[in-house]
Amino acid sequence: MSEIDKTQKKDIDWGSLSFSYQHTDYSYACDYKDGAWGVGRLTPDHNIVMSECAGLLHYCQEVFEGLKAYTQKNGDIVCFRPDMNAKRMYDSAERLCMPPFPQDRFVEAVKAVVKANLAWVPPYGSGATLYIRPFMIATGDVIGVKPALEYQFRILVTPVGPYYKGGVTPVKLQVSKFDRAAPHGTGNIKAGLNYAMSLFPSVEAHAKGYADNMFLDPQTRTYVEEAGGANILFVKDDGTLVVPQSFTDSILPSITRRSLVDVAQKYLGLKVEQRPVKFAEIDQFVECGMCGTAAVISPVGEVDSDDKKIVFRDGHVTVGPVMAKLRQTLVDIQQGDHEAPEGWICKIA
Ligand code: PLP
Ligand code: COI
Repeated sequence: MSEIDKTQKKDIDWGSLSFSYQHTDYSYACDYKDGAWGVGRLTPDHNIVMSECAGLLHYCQEVFEGLKAYTQKNGDIVCFRPDMNAKRMYDSAERLCMPPFPQDRFVEAVKAVVKANLAWVPPYGSGATLYIRPFMIATGDVIGVKPALEYQFRILVTPVGPYYKGGVTPVKLQVSKFDRAAPHGTGNIKAGLNYAMSLFPSVEAHAKGYADNMFLDPQTRTYVEEAGGANILFVKDDGTLVVPQSFTDSILPSITRRSLVDVAQKYLGLKVEQRPVKFAEIDQFVECGMCGTAAVISPVGEVDSDDKKIVFRDGHVTVGPVMAKLRQTLVDIQQGDHEAPEGWICKIA
């Protein structure tokens, strides 16, 4: 077999990409039928044809993931902790009574589809990345409310720029009057139904000039949970990183957030508090940020609720020092410019 050419790239203005979809050369697809996952395949067909009675279309049996492929300085194409996405998707699928996709096959499929689309992986230093979206849908017919018997696991990839338009310029959040998930519901899995719940408040927030919503705990509406598309982090005056925890299991366990906690402790020598965080206490914090695969770390300068406007002292004009350091260290690890903990970087080509 001939050596893969990692240097041939599509003619794209990588630096001006937004977070939007364009189809690439191949997607990956694998079907579940008769109680077993079949052999996966790469396909140039980016459309899915299914029955009008598919479980996806009626009872929202869908779960998904998001991760990215990067070009490192030495030209290697890598992705970040795909085993964590494989595990989270496994858990998400079990919660929605879908047959989990084997975790080793998930990682192999991610590698295969990125390898088939190397020309779409943005170059080192371009500011863009290849977003990888694995998802699983119920394709089998159901008319009564029950799990389907047939499914498709699929991965699409698409080159993207920043998710929050500010990039590293601080954005504003509004406190949502709606909840994105129920207490002890599905907020802690990555299912499309959670995002359907967040669309109305998200459109409303954008119309008012906010980048996203800050959702409070759905039981008491007094604790900070997360944003519509990212977890939230705070920094105390003494430099401690404060990470909100949910007592109603309604925060998505962000892989970026869990990685940043390790980065903060291991590389930056920061103290970290992981605990429920009252909304009433956040005016004591000096920095705030949103973190996630798409968001990376997006600094938050201001949070507005009906009766309160909170402006973070060290991060409302430009990104604050702790968020800046966390962001740079994470990006450096992903791009190969900083030592990475064992197993975080998965080489693809
Ligand atoms: N929270 C929500 C609601 C998200 O959609 C995402 C994005 O995946 C995250 C948090 C961040 O998770 P991760 O860091 O695993 O991408
Ligand atoms: C991600 O960060 O991968 C996500 O899925 C967030 C999504 C709202 C784009």
